[in-house]
Amino acid sequence: MQTGQVIVVGAGPSGLLLTLLLSQSGIPVTLLEQTSGLDTNTRASHYTPESCFEFDRAGVLDIIRSEGFSPNGVSWRKLDEHKTRLVKLQNPDPTPEEENQLPHRHRMVCLPLHRLGKILEDAVEQQPTATVHYGYKVTDINQAESKAQVTVAISDPNGNPETEVLEADYIVGCDGANSTVRRKLFGEMVYPGFTHDQQIVATNVHYDFSPYGYDDSQFFVHPEHWHMVARIQTDGLYRVTYGEVGGLTYDQLKERQPQKFMDILPGNPTPDKYKLVNFSPYKVHQRCVDKMRVGRFLLAADAAHLCNPFGGLGLTGGIADVGSLYDSLVGIHTGQADESILDIYDTERRRIWHEIINPNSTQNMRRLFTLDADTAVEKDPFLNMLRKIQDGEAPPANPGLMSLRYDMTQHYKAAWRNA
Ligand SMILES: Cc1cc2nc3c(=O)[nH]c(=O)nc-3n(C[C@H](O)[C@H](O)[C@H](O)COP(=O)(O)OP(=O)(O)OC[C@H]3O[C@@H](n4cnc5c(N)ncnc54)[C@H](O)[C@@H]3O)c2cc1C
Ligand SMILES: *[C@@H]1O[C@H](CO)[C@@H](O)[C@H](O)[C@H]1NC(C)=O
Ligand SMILES: *[C@@H]1O[C@H](CO)[C@@H](O)[C@H](O)[C@H]1NC(C)=O
Repeated sequence: MQTGQVIVVGAGPSGLLLTLLLSQSGIPVTLLEQTSGLDTNTRASHYTPESCFEFDRAGVLDIIRSEGFSPNGVSWRKLDEHKTRLVKLQNPDPTPEEENQLPHRHRMVCLPLHRLGKILEDAVEQQPTATVHYGYKVTDINQAESKAQVTVAISDPNGNPETEVLEADYIVGCDGANSTVRRKLFGEMVYPGFTHDQQIVATNVHYDFSPYGYDDSQFFVHPEHWHMVARIQTDGLYRVTYGEVGGLTYDQLKERQPQKFMDILPGNPTPDKYKLVNFSPYKVHQRCVDKMRVGRFLLAADAAHLCNPFGGLGLTGGIADVGSLYDSLVGIHTGQADESILDIYDTERRRIWHEIINPNSTQNMRRLFTLDADTAVEKDPFLNMLRKIQDGEAPPANPGLMSLRYDMTQHYKAAWRNA
């Protein structure tokens, strides 16, 4: 059957990318976003090969690379006077000829999320079959045999809210952790999983780390002051994300921040020594829905699953969802697949979350505060493996490895697969 039209709810990275990919294939897509413009809060910033693969398909990889940069590597360190490096995974440094060839073409790239959003939004605007509506908040959903519907509250600048019902063959909830589509499908409080006791504070800060021999990204192993420091822009903006005890209010966290920086940053700086440009505490969750497809409704990215940010598996998993869903919907649109491919989308994406994203992200965070820094590399299998790579006792990691990607075209009808 033909896909008449797809509605995507939410103009975060996942919704924008899905809209771009589908509209580039000639599928009419309507993107609905409740806010009046893109989110400018700094959130994710590191995109792994899985994400680069999808950016490449959408034709935006080169511009993302030109605005961002490729981190030189990641290390784990001890919070002593010299910030001793325990182990480092050095990223390859391809020659200019190698740079645009696989696997290096898809090596990790770093760019703050709001700048990625702008690139995607500009590309969506070029697509004749894409329509974007800001100020459209989905408040309810409904579906019949042949159509799916959303009720939308449209904010009117004169303060007279309007309500409209929009319908499509498929509606995709890319509406983030607080997804309305998910709540309406499964109930207000239904999001299986748990919230970590620890909370996290993500900050962006201008501070000169260069005298201290910092790498582009590093994690500090410490029972109390576990944290991460990563350069996120070429102008010297850094993301410092640190763990905090649970149960503190925003004001308490804010009050503790100067002491925290004095304890964890090299040089023990007082606030006059750095410029804090962003401070966002947030709770971290490990959650996944029981179904990513309910009839004509689909869920993707944070609306469907959440994990803590250590290792960047959250956004990567979401972008990999988008790639799988894009191939599924295009397959239906062109007759290369039937609707049952959407059930495979559901099972495979959830399998990847349960088998890789959830356990690995949990380990990535826990190893920072449960291990003793002096024995961490010896005791932790993952750090031990990195140590072997570092010392040349194991082959280097493939810079283009895509463990979170799942290729849906393998489920296209046989006649098409062989064509
Ligand atoms: C402070 C912070 C720091 C983070 N740091 C990292 C990190 O370092 N690494 C990492 O991998 N991940 C990080 N994340 C997570 C990452 O940002 C998310 O995984 C990613 O943004 C999810 O993208 P998304 O498109 O699924 O949802 P979102 O980016 O949340 O976008 C959802 C969109 O849907 C819209 N929307 C919601 N409800 C409705 C509705 N009813 N109607 C219409 N529109 C609606 C919202 O306004 C929003 O624009 C961080 C998150 C936060 C909050
Ligand atoms: C989610 O929604 C609840 C209730 O509307 C709100 O209190 C909370 O701040 C929201 N969380 C996020 C991350 O937007
Ligand atoms: C997940 O963890 C395993 C075991 O440590 C590791 O071999 C693998 O590379 C990890 N994958 C990802 C995507 O993090």
